Amino acid sequence: MAESMKGMHRSHRCGEVTEALIGSKVTLMGWVQKSRNKGGIIFVDLRDRSGIMQLIFENGSIDEAGFEKAGKLRSEFVIAVTGTVERRSGAVNENLKTGTMEVRVDYLRVLSESETPPFPVEENSKTKEEIRLKYRYLDLRRPDLQRNLMLRSQVATLTRKFMAEEGFLEIETPMLCKSTPEGARDYLVPSRVHPGSFYALPQSPQLFKQLLMCSGYDRYIQIARCFRDEDLRADRQPEFTQIDMELSFVDVDDVIDVNERLLAYLFKEALGVEVSLPIQRMTWQEAMDRFGSDKPDLRFGMELKNVSEAVKDFEFGVFQSALALKDGSVRGINAKGQGAMPRKKIDKLVEFAKGYGAKGLAYIAIQEDGTAKSSFAKFLKEGEMESLIAAMEGQPGDLLLFAADKNKIVWNVLGALRLHLAEELGLLDKNEFRFVWITEFPLLEWSDEENRFMAMHHPFTMPMEEDWDKIDSDPGSVRAKAYDIVLNGNEIGGGSVRIHQDDIQEKMFEVLGFTKEQAWDQFGFLLSAFKYGVPPHAGLAYGLDRLVMLMAKQDSIRDVIAFPKVKDASDLMCEAPSRVDEKQLQELGIRIAEEE
Ligand code: AMO
Ligand code: AMP
Repeated sequence: MAESMKGMHRSHRCGEVTEALIGSKVTLMGWVQKSRNKGGIIFVDLRDRSGIMQLIFENGSIDEAGFEKAGKLRSEFVIAVTGTVERRSGAVNENLKTGTMEVRVDYLRVLSESETPPFPVEENSKTKEEIRLKYRYLDLRRPDLQRNLMLRSQVATLTRKFMAEEGFLEIETPMLCKSTPEGARDYLVPSRVHPGSFYALPQSPQLFKQLLMCSGYDRYIQIARCFRDEDLRADRQPEFTQIDMELSFVDVDDVIDVNERLLAYLFKEALGVEVSLPIQRMTWQEAMDRFGSDKPDLRFGMELKNVSEAVKDFEFGVFQSALALKDGSVRGINAKGQGAMPRKKIDKLVEFAKGYGAKGLAYIAIQEDGTAKSSFAKFLKEGEMESLIAAMEGQPGDLLLFAADKNKIVWNVLGALRLHLAEELGLLDKNEFRFVWITEFPLLEWSDEENRFMAMHHPFTMPMEEDWDKIDSDPGSVRAKAYDIVLNGNEIGGGSVRIHQDDIQEKMFEVLGFTKEQAWDQFGFLLSAFKYGVPPHAGLAYGLDRLVMLMAKQDSIRDVIAFPKVKDASDLMCEAPSRVDEKQLQELGIRIAEEE
């Protein structure tokens, strides 16, 4: 029994009915959230993306046939009704914006019936995510997901409006590109016309937007789809969306300025939240020293302290061997008020630290009476414990945790531990938004795996002028004109000033271990473009998914993406990726290697 809607015209969405309409006729259409049959009277909650309206069917207000039809309504039936808006006769529902009203129905059509859904369509669903993703079209009916996607749409619209007013042009760039070796693994697309050759899906529009600057477009914006074949996490998807931009004739401050104003505008318009400008800036070095992370969460303290100087004369072997390392240090965090933490829980923290590469985690638990329990007391001489506690500003009741190793490991371990403790102690408030710009990143990062320097951001990032003379003698110490925008411990965006001089660009490739031929083979079109007049330029890209996730106060970007993928990069609903026909493979000149 599926009726047509011929002759009926929706007058309002459910959530748009206001008290001003009391006494008026309305026509509503939507899904049955639930229905309750109380004998002579039937209540139905009608749902659409704007909200819920309670419908009331009563013998007398609607004819016999209509009343009978109403008695058969089940969850997720799609219906159209005409009726009169009334003040609620029963209890007011404080949780609904339409909770003071109901619609007395005089006409009903069932536009589509529904089988019993595999899980109830409701806010804060307790259904397992795998099931919800398999039936994503039902999951997407849930009001919380609908709010998230409406917010996402609003953020995209506001961004386009703001950027257009700032003189940015929206320009599309190709999806079928050339594979380049830097960065994450590429998704490849085989070419039928050129058997054995492949396109790569873009990891970002980076090179194209730089070429657009070479071509004089001055300011570019694109809400761009990007593809990276990397391991997935809560904040990583194989395909994701960037708000991508590039500007000509600018330096770091110009990019930061327009982006701060964009962020303030988005938060004000979409959430009513004031972002006070300018946003705090912190160098990469300071972020690592204070928070052990290049994306510090500033909603709480528990900062790292370098105690290398305080412990330099200790005979404790763990500390001594760390200090003997190149770039080795001993650092600690003070978990205030956690001195009474049971041993078992502390052991868990040690295990946690080991998961981040620590060889161990030394601790001092200062009891309320001032005595200390410590994992390394027996290695210390008279007075050393007290001096270390003093260096950490430890008070009775505090728990001091220390990592000793190469800086890179110490930062990684304590940075992660700091966040882990904050989570456990409930210090993270999703209603607080703490932004920070991280600046002056290292240009290069040593890779033990590749045994060479890699670009920390990408190979087109401009070194800081004052460091360039060290590019041969001490490449690791050269800083870059690169910046990230961080919100509540998440990298929501990043960018840099680009190299626009071909000699610096060629030198950069050389440092990264490319021969001239390799550089020209991979990036020839860019290097060639650089020979014909290049404006100084810079840019930035946000992870739109991450930005909206934080604005919507969600924990995973899957909750702000309509059709996300799961950990193994598959789509549980469409069942992609999938095998293809032998014929398709033949056309592409591809043969699948025999499986083991
Ligand atoms: P970057 O690689 O830092 O820079 O990416 C920019 C932002 O995109 C988001 N992001 C992701 N979001 C979800 N899933 C992923 N797999 C993923 N990877 C990255 C992050 C990140 O800050 N072309 C440069 C930008 C530039 O220099 O202008 C770039 O792509 O929020
Ligand atoms: P050990 O000498 O291995 O018994 O270690 C003594 C204490 O130091 C234990 O609490 C270890 O967890 C801790 N420890 C060992 N290695 C490190 C390290 N690299 N950093 C911090 N603490 C460590």
